[in-house]
Amino acid sequence: MRVVILGSGRGSNAEAILQAQQTGQLGRARVVGIFSDKSDAGILELGPRFGVPASFIDPAPFKTKLEGEGQARFIAAVRAAQPDLVVLAGFMRVIKPGFLTEFAGKIINLHPSLLPSFPGLDGIGQAFRRGVKVTGCTVHGVTAEVDGGPILDQASVRVSPGETLETLAAKIHTAEHALLPAVIARLSEGR
Ligand code: GAR
Repeated sequence: MRVVILGSGRGSNAEAILQAQQTGQLGRARVVGIFSDKSDAGILELGPRFGVPASFIDPAPFKTKLEGEGQARFIAAVRAAQPDLVVLAGFMRVIKPGFLTEFAGKIINLHPSLLPSFPGLDGIGQAFRRGVKVTGCTVHGVTAEVDGGPILDQASVRVSPGETLETLAAKIHTAEHALLPAVIARLSEGR
């Protein structure tokens, strides 16, 4: 299963996926490309480290969504990588119909809350400020509804007494690093 990863940030989840691949824990999946909408994103440094093509794609003209010419550039680059699965790992843009149609049923997203609670930006902060005692992370199929597609798997994280936003974020990231590669491995084996 050919996997393309899209991300905008430091890429710790992409790194977890690549490490799982290196240690034989990614099932029949293989990462064939990494693309970012931020030219200085840490995720792009994983390319040379893991021997995977990684490149910046100009997302202009929009700031928060993938549409128009930027979307066309992303579609062309991702299509050329011939993915069976497109993984959004911290890709901080709303995916619009053109991209969704091109890769229909093949796009999954990682979100740092137990959806359907706390969709949108800053899922960790939203849950922390609401005072929930359990939160976590979700991997779901991507549809036109933001953070609304079918849930594939979740991991829960308990909010301890005295928890800070920073300690909670660290716990959620640890849970994400186990959950996302496990879901990809499972999908690659048709489970
Ligand atoms: C992850 O926590 C992921 O859940 C979140 O961005 C972070 C990316 O971290 N995604 C979203 O908030 C999407 N709405 P990373 O760049 O270290 O993998």
